[in-house]
Amino acid sequence: MPALPEESVDLIFADPPYFLSNGGITCHAGRMVRVDKGDWDRSRGADANHEFNRAWLAACQRVLKPNGTIWVSGTRHVIYSVGFAMQQLGFKLLNDITWVKPNPPPNLSCRYFTHATETILWAAKSDRSRHKFNYRLMRQLNGGRQMKSVWTIPPPEPWEKRFGKHPTQKPVALLERILLAASDEGDLVLDPFLGSGTTAVAALRLSRMVWAIEQSGDCADLAQRRIVAELVQVDLFVCCTKGLDLVPRPVDRSRSRTRHGMTSRPLTKLMQQERMFYFVGTDEREVIFSVTARTMEEAWERFRNSPKAGKDIFCVIKTETEIYLAVGK
Ligand SMILES: C[S@@+](CC[C@H](N)C(=O)[O-])C[C@H]1O[C@@H](n2cnc3c(N)ncnc32)[C@H](O)[C@@H]1O
Repeated sequence: MPALPEESVDLIFADPPYFLSNGGITCHAGRMVRVDKGDWDRSRGADANHEFNRAWLAACQRVLKPNGTIWVSGTRHVIYSVGFAMQQLGFKLLNDITWVKPNPPPNLSCRYFTHATETILWAAKSDRSRHKFNYRLMRQLNGGRQMKSVWTIPPPEPWEKRFGKHPTQKPVALLERILLAASDEGDLVLDPFLGSGTTAVAALRLSRMVWAIEQSGDCADLAQRRIVAELVQVDLFVCCTKGLDLVPRPVDRSRSRTRHGMTSRPLTKLMQQERMFYFVGTDEREVIFSVTARTMEEAWERFRNSPKAGKDIFCVIKTETEIYLAVGK
């Protein structure tokens, strides 16, 4: 953070450690498991936790533009300390959003209400800030009525976890709502606790620029894979299959003349690997169903369980996509 220029960022989203991985139990996928999100989430005691929150919030305040805003999400373990630190530092508290999670895991001890919400504090840099709020857009997204500070947004969808899981991954829809509410295209967004990269994915989708910080190499790798997949879209269009010769006559097209004579090429790192199966309908002669799967059998199984199951299939096209990031000479 100290390397970032002062007053350069329009919006910050921070999802700091919750300090709740301390040996408690929870319910995950119907099983009783220990709460252990990683070393980064262990409590160091109330005073040390508060000092940590104060320190990173002060660093964020320095890089925020005078009219910039910060959004911090957290549970009861951390959010009161964050709110108090914001007051101590002179932020201007704007809203406390309640994010409601439909279908939360049950409370196994049966001694508390089921935890079903997180709080998101929204604050401006100081009392003098004239903060940005895209009021009309929010009202439009809410069917023409003022949007309330209670947001019901489901947890991340399976497609958001296709490159791997992070224990506290936020849904892209939540970050999109935040960015749409308080930033515009071209604005600079910062996430000091990037995790799996959700803020970066949402920012790229909405044409914002993004800076991010993450201490764990594994999380940074996962975030990088998600970001690359956002930047590179591989689509298949079947233009004409009518005259397609289906006699099996395999041709190896993997060699191309452009490769000959190439003595060195940049070092690359595999960022994304995907096997897609496209089902072309007999009547339509176009792709009527597509799916990622490991094998042809699995793809057919998924097709048979899809709404297109009764359709006659003319052919199935399998594509393998690998995206490599150039990492050196
Ligand atoms: C609550 S998670 C963020 C999850 C993220 N919002 C997402 O959607 O994936 C917090 C992340 O902050 C990282 N972290 C913890 N302490 C940090 C520190 N001092 N500096 C940078 N990153 C840190 C952890 O490795 C973890 O991935």
